[in-house]
Order: sequence, then C-alpha cells, then structure tokens
Amino acid sequence: MSEKFKEQVVIVRQDQLANGIYSMWIKTENIAKNARPGQFISIYTHDSSRLLPRPISICEISKDMLRVVYRVAGEGTRQFSEMKADDKIEVMGPLGNGYTLRDKKAVLIAGGIGVPPMLELAKQLKCDKTIVLGYRDKNTFLLDEFKKCGEVVIATEDGSIGTKGNVMDAIKEQNVTGEVIYSCGPKPMLKAVKEWGLSNNIETQISLEEKMACGIGACLACVCKTKNEDEHSHVHNARVCKDGPVFFAEEVEL
Ligand SMILES: Cc1cc2nc3c(=O)[nH]c(=O)nc-3n(C[C@H](O)[C@H](O)[C@H](O)COP(=O)(O)OP(=O)(O)OC[C@H]3O[C@@H](n4cnc5c(N)ncnc54)[C@H](O)[C@@H]3O)c2cc1C
Ligand code: FES
Repeated sequence: MSEKFKEQVVIVRQDQLANGIYSMWIKTENIAKNARPGQFISIYTHDSSRLLPRPISICEISKDMLRVVYRVAGEGTRQFSEMKADDKIEVMGPLGNGYTLRDKKAVLIAGGIGVPPMLELAKQLKCDKTIVLGYRDKNTFLLDEFKKCGEVVIATEDGSIGTKGNVMDAIKEQNVTGEVIYSCGPKPMLKAVKEWGLSNNIETQISLEEKMACGIGACLACVCKTKNEDEHSHVHNARVCKDGPVFFAEEVEL
C-alpha cells in the first residue's frame, strides 16, 4: 500500500467537460508521486457541516499534479464545481488499491462516472488494448483523450453514438475480446462484466463504488461481501476504501 498524504493543495485549472461533468487539476507532488491507476483521493468541502470528504478517482497523474473528473451529484460536488484556478482545497490520498497492470491484451470497460479512472490506466498500459466506454447519450467526455490510447468502442443508452445499449451490447456487436479485463462503473454493469469475464476464463478486475465515510478503513461504512473470510474478523467482508476499490472479480459478491 502506498504512503498517503493529507494536504491543502492549489487548483491549477478547472474546466467543464460536458453537462454537469467537471475536470480539475490539482498541484500535489506527494500524492502524484505515489499514485497508481484505480486509486482515489478524498476531497474535503469547505462547509464544516459536511465533514466527510468525497471520494473521487484519480483520472490522470503527472509529475506534480493530479486530475479528477467528476459529476455534480449533490452539495459537495456542486461546491467543487464552483472552485477556480488558484483556489485551495484539502485532499487526502492516494487511497485504496488500484489495478494490477498486466502486459496482456487488455479490455478496459467503463460506464458513466466510471470512465475517468480508466484514462490513466489506458495511458500506462503499453500493450494492445480495446477501450469500451458507455455513456447515456452524446453528452460524452474524455473521448478524444481515450482515442489517443487505443481502439475505442462506444455504447450509448439512446444510440446517439456507437452501439445502442450498454457496454456488453457493444462488446458483443464488435466481437471485443482480450486476455485481461479492467472495469469501473455502476454495479449492474460490473455484474455483467464479471459474468462475461469469468465465463470466458479472462482475468477480470473491477472497481467498486460504495458510499464511504472515513475513506481510510476505520469505520466499516463501505464493506462489500467477499468469497473468502477476513483473517482478523472471520467475516466475509472487505472494506472497499482500503482493500479495494479494485478487486479481482471472483473475490467479491455483487
Ligand atoms: C472509490 C470511489 C471513487 C469515485 N470516483 C468518482 C469519480 O471519479 N467521479 C465522480 O463523479 N464520482 C466518483 N465517485 C462518487 C462520488 O464520491 C459521489 O458522487 C460524491 O461523494 C457525492 O457527493 P455530493 O456531496 O456531491 O453528493 P451527496 O449529497 O453526498 O449525494 C448525492 C447523491 O449521490 C449519491 N452518492 C453519495 N456518495 C456516493 C458514492 N460514494 N457512490 C455513489 N453514489 C453516491 C447519494 O446517495 C445521493 O443520491 C466515487 C466514489 C467512490 C466510492
Ligand atoms: S469508508 Fe470507512 S472503512 Fe471504508
């Protein structure tokens, strides 16, 4: 597990990518140096009545900066969206366990707000890869950046771009296959990806999104059911924030 840091950081830039979707670059040498694809940071709001930080995946890592891309879901993310370059914000990270990178033909599968963490992964994987992205409609984001990393296959719920339907419909229509799957997105999508991967004997890594409180493994707000017993507590549980958010698909029940 990498060392984690809690610090006040400066926002380098903030842009709106699509309706309700924002991209924020923050300056943080410590977190950037230690971060890996699939990990996340906790971002604190300025409002003291909302003490709990909001978990947001790392979208891109540079030498001394990190990028997050987020959807405005409620009050916390709305506050983040109003911030500008040179504003300060408190963050903690890098948190959790990221993806295990393999040098094998890869299929990256992401839906909705599961799309951002796939960008750093796509950049770091130097092997042959297909990137399958699911959006609601033509209000897409990060698409051009993914196209620079590999072959991109798109599904939209309304059929306005790519295959009409979900990521699994696109995978079947385009005969996508590979030797390792990396995935992030809503639970029903992850369930379908797990089933497809395991029934085809493909190693499948999935990133779970649970509601979180502490974000560092201390409060058990984020447990998920696992196949194996935890050796300390002897229960079939894992903490998504600390043991995940990325798990091998066969380890967790969805
Ligand atoms: C490991 C992890 C990585 C994440 N990465 C991203 C990301 O890269 N980009 C992004 O936009 N979002 C991401 N999320 C979801 C993000 O944390 C929530 O959208 C955010 O905390 C909502 O905060 P809020 O104050 O705006 O909304 P709130 O007012 O707290 O809630 C608004 C709505 O969002 C729901 N919600 C709250 N927390 C979560 C959660 N953790 N997961 C799912 N739904 C939630 C609430 O039930 C409610 O319906 C991630 C979540 C986790 C656990
Ligand atoms: S959020 Fe507290 S243990 Fe995971």
